[in-house]
Amino acid sequence: MARYSHIVGWGMYVPERVVTNDDLAKIVETSDEWIRTRTGIRERHIVDKPNESTSTLAIRAARAALEKAGLPPTALDLIIVATSSPDHLFPATACIVQDAIGATRAGAYDLSAACSGFVYGMAMAHGLIVSGQADTVMVIGAETLSRLVDWSDRNTCVLFGDGAGAVIMQAREEPGGFLASVLGADGSGANLLTLPAGGSKLPASVDTVRNGDHYIKMDGRAVFRFATRVMAEATREVVERAGLTLDDVELIIPHQANTRIIESSVVKQLKFPPEKVFINLDRYGNTSTASIPIALTEAVEQGRVQPGDHIVFVGFGAGLTWAAALIQWAPPTPELPTWKRFWYKVWYPWSRILSGYRRLRRRLFAAWLGTKERSQEELESLRSRTRRDTE
Ligand code: ACO
Repeated sequence: MARYSHIVGWGMYVPERVVTNDDLAKIVETSDEWIRTRTGIRERHIVDKPNESTSTLAIRAARAALEKAGLPPTALDLIIVATSSPDHLFPATACIVQDAIGATRAGAYDLSAACSGFVYGMAMAHGLIVSGQADTVMVIGAETLSRLVDWSDRNTCVLFGDGAGAVIMQAREEPGGFLASVLGADGSGANLLTLPAGGSKLPASVDTVRNGDHYIKMDGRAVFRFATRVMAEATREVVERAGLTLDDVELIIPHQANTRIIESSVVKQLKFPPEKVFINLDRYGNTSTASIPIALTEAVEQGRVQPGDHIVFVGFGAGLTWAAALIQWAPPTPELPTWKRFWYKVWYPWSRILSGYRRLRRRLFAAWLGTKERSQEELESLRSRTRRDTE
């Protein structure tokens, strides 16, 4: 039996706080006019609550995707979180999501390929599904890059936004779904876009903090040149690999970094009709790994995607990396019955209780082990005392 991997659920979440270009002009020397004409961005959403982080955004997007697919979290075999701003170096943000949604049967790991990470994640999910190693995989792109930008550096702080998007890919017998992918990397450009400190090469120290080495550093012009080249090449290549032509493609959803990059790559170089390219970066900025799944969710909600459509996802990012995927959209999933909606409302608090119970059990066990170790120590001291007495 042939196996195909289809997108059966999708969802997104962005934090409430909106920061406009005019707001930024109050903190760095820039203007709404400069940002709009050089990037296409008008506003972005930014986390502003201390308890918000990449995982909290990812959890909201994950829940939305599950509800759309009408699947319980226990149906997931694997959760991949593509991110460049994980909650921690470890544990993986994917594990935090796995626990929060109660996906008790799922493996979970983070994937680091910068803005190309979501498409890399989809390619990994597809491989596992068609080889029979997994039936249902959730791929999330989630970022809080606002926590990693230097808000006094106008070259970078105007570009990024926070958010999360998720898809669920599932094994199906009907042909279609994920048809082809192109994954690329060129580490010789690693220095062009980097967050220098906080890893093993330059661990956190007073000096790294003083020098601002925990902030994103970017050679914007070099990244721009690279991006316009690889976006066009990767799109052309993935269409060929799928055995199609650009005329067969109904929609391109590019990484939402800069309208000028999109225009001079897929539109100008490939002569692809601009009305068939989805752009929403004006409202979100560059949300890195989250930009493609957020755009996909909005494209579906706006009726831009119809069953049978061929869609290209294409992105580029730090590394340097690039990635493209071509999918054929599956028939939409049926509306969720009311009882299932209620079920989700019960499941999430219930999985929090179960998670709390597992933590408590671990703590009690550790305390019991401590007592046991102590009593063995006491036994040993008693033995040595007895030995001394008898000698
Ligand atoms: N406001 C006003 N002026 C600015 C700003 C700003 N926010 N930022 C830069 N400038 C100035 C520069 O200092 C420069 O001044 P100078 O000529 O006196 O030196 C001038 O504007 C022009 O700078 P350029 O770098 O030539 O501007 P450019 O047209 O290339 O646009 C930009 C800059 C928007 C950063 C562009 O190069 C770009 O989009 N690059 C790609 C960046 C990107 O997509 N990065 C994300 C990758 S994905 C990931 O992995 C996270």
